[in-house]
Amino acid sequence: MKICMIGTGYVGLVSGTCFADLGNKVYCVDRDKLKINKLKNAVSPIYEPGLNDLIKNNYKAKRLHFTDDLEKAIKESQIIFICVGTPNKKKSNLVDLSQVNSVAKSISKYIKNYKIIVNKSTVPVSTGDQIEKIISKKVKKSKFDVISNPEFLREGEAIRDFKYPDRIIIGSNNKKIYKKMKILYEPLIRKGAKFFTTSRKGAELIKYASNAFLATKITFINEIANLCEATDINIEDISIGMGSDARIGSRFLRAGPAYGGSCFPKDTKGLVSIADRFKTNLSIVKSVIKSNNDRKMLLTKRINKIMNNKIKNKKITVLGVTFKANTDDMRESSSLVLIPYLLKKGALVKYYDPSGPKEDFKKNKNLKFEKSINKACLGSDLIIINTEWDEFKSIDFKKIVKKNNFKIYDMRNLYNPNELKKKNIKYYSVGR
Ligand SMILES: NC(=O)c1ccc[n+]([C@@H]2O[C@H](COP(=O)([O-])OP(=O)(O)OC[C@H]3O[C@@H](n4cnc5c(N)ncnc54)[C@H](O)[C@@H]3O)[C@@H](O)[C@H]2O)c1
Repeated sequence: MKICMIGTGYVGLVSGTCFADLGNKVYCVDRDKLKINKLKNAVSPIYEPGLNDLIKNNYKAKRLHFTDDLEKAIKESQIIFICVGTPNKKKSNLVDLSQVNSVAKSISKYIKNYKIIVNKSTVPVSTGDQIEKIISKKVKKSKFDVISNPEFLREGEAIRDFKYPDRIIIGSNNKKIYKKMKILYEPLIRKGAKFFTTSRKGAELIKYASNAFLATKITFINEIANLCEATDINIEDISIGMGSDARIGSRFLRAGPAYGGSCFPKDTKGLVSIADRFKTNLSIVKSVIKSNNDRKMLLTKRINKIMNNKIKNKKITVLGVTFKANTDDMRESSSLVLIPYLLKKGALVKYYDPSGPKEDFKKNKNLKFEKSINKACLGSDLIIINTEWDEFKSIDFKKIVKKNNFKIYDMRNLYNPNELKKKNIKYYSVGR
């Protein structure tokens, strides 16, 4: 099939590349010329394991094309995916749909023959109606259908998640479309993905409800971790004990820092704003948002206790600053609260992240990016493990810090407290 992906961010680029890998001809379009130029040299503008090679192979095979010429891409394609950003509006829970609306307007200028327009961006209930309305101002309704096909991939695991999804959700008010979408997704359905169809609004809500539920699960276990600390119980025993119940499941049940990233924070807020619009009180989701916000400071302020309130001029190392491992995405990362707090308290901070230095942390003289774990940890008073990249999991701290009396604050529970105790290292973790 011939496909156009509008927006080549984490979702558009990964799904476009994977569709090409399944044998389709894919045009990836973005308004960001820098991104498109990088991609034309077969270089991925984002860090996602395995993505660079997949781009190279499919670009070479001429199945994958990168362009800022939306008119040509639409003309050549049968199916057009909208994959642009849907952030929250500034200082509000409302979803900013300006990117989606602007794409809908552009699409309406270029449709000449029948197209299926698939919204993959996460959008509030009835956005599909709105896209349809915008396009039908210029195009006859018989020449297009607007459907919803939310994306569930996770950054860091995006290729695997796209190629082996649990389910493919197609929301459409026109049942004829299901057949066409089933053909597109057939290779994934054959591997076991559930193909589920519903109304367009239903599909839009499934995405928000799923993300809010996962955020709730994380927040729940984080609060139980607080109780474990107060009662001298190991949170990991609770996670295993609870997670072994098939009704509960073990995934998303590991205690750690507040959730972050480009989806859970904005989608929980977005869901509350949708419910407000329909005069429905989502009290659980509201509590989750508050608890998660509080957690950022709770875990950060614990450093005062660990350091006996002596943070000024202390050498502190932060390992991992993205919102989780295996991504370069900084959106809503808890390090954006943690590092400014340490700097404000007068600490001398070094950080290392396998995905490289970050724009967010460029302008501070007491903050330095180091190119290796060894350099970052040398001479530190406190090492904070903030994300769980594999390379953080078996560090010989004594060997690389090269001093006595340093401490470790492991926010991801990567190490066994007893083993570090045997090595005389002062070790603090979460919920145990
Ligand atoms: N990131 C994830 O893990 C993830 C997972 C599932 C769903 N989603 C949802 O998918 C959507 C996209 O998320 P993302 O993380 O890929 O966003 P992103 O910010 O990484 O990418 C969006 C891209 O769209 C481009 N764009 C914006 N307006 C455009 C226009 N008019 N024409 C062409 N290109 C345009 C931007 O330049 C950018 O490259 C969001 O709604 C998000 O909630 C994201």
